[in-house]
Amino acid sequence: MGVLRRRDQKTHHDGKSMTLSVSSGSGDLAADRRYQWGLGAAESGDFDGARDLFNQAVELVPAWAPGWFALAQVLEALGCRAEAVEAYSKSLALDSGDALGAGLRLAALGARAVPSAAPRAYVQALFDQYAAKFDRHLVEKLAYRGPQILADAVERAAPGQIFAHMLDLGCGAGLAGAAFRQKARIRTGIDLSPAMIEQARAKNFYDRLAAADLVEFLNAEPAGSADLAIAADVFVYIGDLDPVISAIARVLAPGGLLGFTAQSFDGEGFRLGDDMRYAHGRDSLSDYAARHGFAAKEITAASTRKDRGVDVPGWVAVLRKG
Ligand SMILES: C[S@@+](CC[C@H](N)C(=O)[O-])C[C@H]1O[C@@H](n2cnc3c(N)ncnc32)[C@H](O)[C@@H]1O
Repeated sequence: MGVLRRRDQKTHHDGKSMTLSVSSGSGDLAADRRYQWGLGAAESGDFDGARDLFNQAVELVPAWAPGWFALAQVLEALGCRAEAVEAYSKSLALDSGDALGAGLRLAALGARAVPSAAPRAYVQALFDQYAAKFDRHLVEKLAYRGPQILADAVERAAPGQIFAHMLDLGCGAGLAGAAFRQKARIRTGIDLSPAMIEQARAKNFYDRLAAADLVEFLNAEPAGSADLAIAADVFVYIGDLDPVISAIARVLAPGGLLGFTAQSFDGEGFRLGDDMRYAHGRDSLSDYAARHGFAAKEITAASTRKDRGVDVPGWVAVLRKG
């Protein structure tokens, strides 16, 4: 086991791109070799070759979820939707927590209802394996500017205010927290990914860090115990924001601010994109605010990052608790 380490590879075919997750081993050396050769073939654009190799891998180890997932990805890239759906379904059946995200891919392909949020195991696995290179990748490759955009919006809503207790929701490695360093006397960071929490800890500016799901963490916090909550590039992993905004509303003191960024689309509610991230319509954000006793100080169009060189449309929002 464990001959292959998990990482992400972008590979391109006829202008399309796919991300292959390199999993831990199947327990069978011959299958692992075919899997690894398949990754190499896909990376060099030989998707037919990759399909054959992944097929051989799952013939050798039929109960290996990552093998089916990789096969599904090349089938998808080759335009073989029905076969891809079948392979993703096999992967999902073998991966009960859906750490690989096969359920999300099936939803993106229209073969399954869109889940209300990305599976926890998927988010944790994604960020645990991404943590060490997160800061550099986001800032250098994706031109990530969410933290500054969010800090500027909070400053517009409350010029010069220093907050007593800030919750950095989905703090990741602390990029957004850093932009609020001078703005809050006590800083708490929460994230599902223990590896991201360790990156945040190394930055040395959080007073408290918790590896936890946001709603579970918030439900255990005293009511009215924070006056600022931020969530930078986190709601892209949550479609239905009702549970998290309700939990934030309880923990914020009256007059407290919730600032967040989100991906946007021109429609109602939320939708899951091909990038496996959720986008929210403007009206849905206003509705959450009204339903949970917030006044919207601003909900402004703002792009916080690029995808393959193109600005991803988004929102920056600041809500004030009544
Ligand atoms: C793209 S990163 C952004 C990190 C940081 N806010 C920043 O701006 O650099 C998204 C983070 O949200 C976390 N996350 C997503 N869903 C979560 C949830 N339900 N509970 C806790 N953390 C979550 C992920 O683990 C990841 O570290």
